[in-house]
Amino acid sequence: MHCRSCHGADLRGTETGINLLRAESVLKDKAGESVLAVVRSGRNTPGMKPMPPMALPEEDVKAIAEYFHSVLATAQRQGGPPPGPRLQLNILVGDAAAGKAYFDSKCALCHSATGDLAGIGRRQNNPTQLQNSWLAGGNLGDRPVTATITPASGPKVTGRLSRIDDFSVVITLDDGATRYFRRDGESPRVEVNDPRDAHRNLLPQYTDKNIHDVTAYLVTLK
Ligand code: HEC
Ligand code: HEC
Repeated sequence: MHCRSCHGADLRGTETGINLLRAESVLKDKAGESVLAVVRSGRNTPGMKPMPPMALPEEDVKAIAEYFHSVLATAQRQGGPPPGPRLQLNILVGDAAAGKAYFDSKCALCHSATGDLAGIGRRQNNPTQLQNSWLAGGNLGDRPVTATITPASGPKVTGRLSRIDDFSVVITLDDGATRYFRRDGESPRVEVNDPRDAHRNLLPQYTDKNIHDVTAYLVTLK
């Protein structure tokens, strides 16, 4: 009754109103608050046709907003997968022998196929997850990032890193207590130890083929 003449029956807009399925104020709206603001004050963006302010009751506008959300919920997201059944991608397209050679030259420095990575293909039996995991250097949860802080006076403290920026660093100690330190340039000295740095530094070196080959090899480590 109030909106359709301009925004269209399917909300995709007309000559006189814009497409609401892509409108920021609809996408960010939670419970009508942002749609209400537009309806109450109207819109007059230079170069566009105006939307007049409308004095509708708040409850009505909220109901209209709920309707918008219900339509949006049925829409395919931009960049969404093609309609139809979900495609299972086979990521095992590499050459396991080439992967072993790569592993022996680049990874064996820190790992062993019969030691720490023995059975990795069994422990991580989903190849996609295995690939994500080895690229990242394992599970984030298991191995915390720690920081060691050396204050100007007093002993060094080490703990799990909770937060760090240019002005402060917060760590959590083994007993659960948190310690806060103000930072001023190099003082106090902060050393961050992230077990995944070794892997981050490797990321720029891999080609796609290296990645596929290594995954194909790791899968065989049952
Ligand atoms: C007379 C035509 C007209 C009517 C009626 C109308 N609109 Fe609009 N609406 C527009 C136009 C044109 C714009 C874009 C205006 C601009 O950006 O300056 C717009 C913009 C909006 C936006 C902002 C989108 C953004 O940019 O984030 C919302 C939300 C909206 N309308 C909701 C409604 C609702 C809800 C109703 C009914 C209660 C309604 N409109 C009725 C023409 C109309
Ligand atoms: C410079 C040392 C280093 C190199 C080189 C290295 N890694 Fe790692 N990798 C690590 C560290 C450190 C971890 C974190 C594990 C830990 O804390 O024990 C890790 C974790 C992993 C994990 C997760 C282990 C698990 O049990 O979840 C996999 C899998 C792995 N690396 C595979 C590889 C592969 C494949 C290569 C070669 C492409 C490689 N790594 C190269 C140091 C290295």
